[in-house]
Amino acid sequence: MKILVTGGAGFIGTNLTRYLLMQCNHQVVVYDKLTYAGNRGSLSDLENHPGFQFVQGDVCDGDLFASVLEQHRPNAIMHLAAESHVDRSIDGPEAFIQTNVVGTFKLLNAAKSYYQQLEGADKDRFRLLHVSTDEVFGSLAMDAPAFCESTAYDPHSPYSASKASSDHLVRAWQDTYGLPVLITNCSNNYGPFQFPEKLIPVVIMKCLRSESIPIYGKGENIRDWLYVEDHARALERVLDRGQVGETYAIGGDNELTNLELVQQICSLMDELRPRSADGKSPEDSRYSSLITFVTDRPGHDMRYAINASKIKQELQWAPLQNAESGFRQTVKWYLDNSIWLENILSGGYQLERIGGVNVQS
Ligand SMILES: NC(=O)c1ccc[n+]([C@@H]2O[C@H](COP(=O)([O-])OP(=O)(O)OC[C@H]3O[C@@H](n4cnc5c(N)ncnc54)[C@H](O)[C@@H]3O)[C@@H](O)[C@H]2O)c1
Repeated sequence: MKILVTGGAGFIGTNLTRYLLMQCNHQVVVYDKLTYAGNRGSLSDLENHPGFQFVQGDVCDGDLFASVLEQHRPNAIMHLAAESHVDRSIDGPEAFIQTNVVGTFKLLNAAKSYYQQLEGADKDRFRLLHVSTDEVFGSLAMDAPAFCESTAYDPHSPYSASKASSDHLVRAWQDTYGLPVLITNCSNNYGPFQFPEKLIPVVIMKCLRSESIPIYGKGENIRDWLYVEDHARALERVLDRGQVGETYAIGGDNELTNLELVQQICSLMDELRPRSADGKSPEDSRYSSLITFVTDRPGHDMRYAINASKIKQELQWAPLQNAESGFRQTVKWYLDNSIWLENILSGGYQLERIGGVNVQS
């Protein structure tokens, strides 16, 4: 298959592109605007792969997107391009409405025209997979059952509201125009190539720089964490075997409070890159001594959790990594690839910008 991946230079897109090319032998055309969150360097090892092509473009540019579909004639589109950081959506929601809502609308219109002129087997197998988030479902009480495909939408932040809007548009293009779509709603991802404004790479970076590790409120907010390659496997499985028009909730069965998560990362750092004792007490030489609690952000959802039974039962998917193996692999990756982090930071992104506030997805 030839698959067009929007947002393929971002965190999940980079891992997905690599998975589709290397593990599944698909061809991939990445379509990405290269915003601050997109990094072509993350794909540099793929540049000479015969199945890989890159187009720099904005999903809001419907004409360009339509011409790229005409030129490359993909069998499927996986739509990941988005503004994805909740804190940024609070500071400046407009970019989120543009890319996540208007951009998805433009993409749907171009995909509809392209689909309508396909014929035969090409038409039968064409799919548009829209990659969304569990944040569209809102916040769960501590004892409430986990989100599933039939949970009512209740978004609270500009980010989650914009993603919810895009999900509704995608469904409308299926119901109204017969576009063959699939939607996934996934929990928090972690792993290699995540932009260092999100919690896990921030914690690792702060540890490496011996700077305080900021946690919102008391660190009690709960998220479900999924290793990014497990998400990539789930997306490929949905594209390959999912029922057109269906939604699949994807999660890692790995609920942790933010404080528990940060403590786990700090313990792995203690083991893999011990801090110099340098006259400190044993307690103070542990990375967890860097943790500080900062004022909570507005509208901070308390808990997300995913019931992934449907994709497990119907599509025989399950995560391969558990928390221990996934977090260990992730910390090792950032330690082995600190040059990647430094390159991103030296590209004009100031660490100070992250400190204190911009730290959680
Ligand atoms: N990260 C998570 O934990 C998570 C969980 C569930 C769902 N998702 C969804 O998965 C998708 C990818 O998330 P991510 O964490 O990789 O995001 P990211 O911010 O790391 O990457 C987004 C990518 O989209 C590109 N992009 C942004 N605006 C664009 C535009 N107008 N046109 C073309 N490209 C544009 C960026 O350059 C970047 O490469 C998003 O749709 C997000 O909502 C993310």
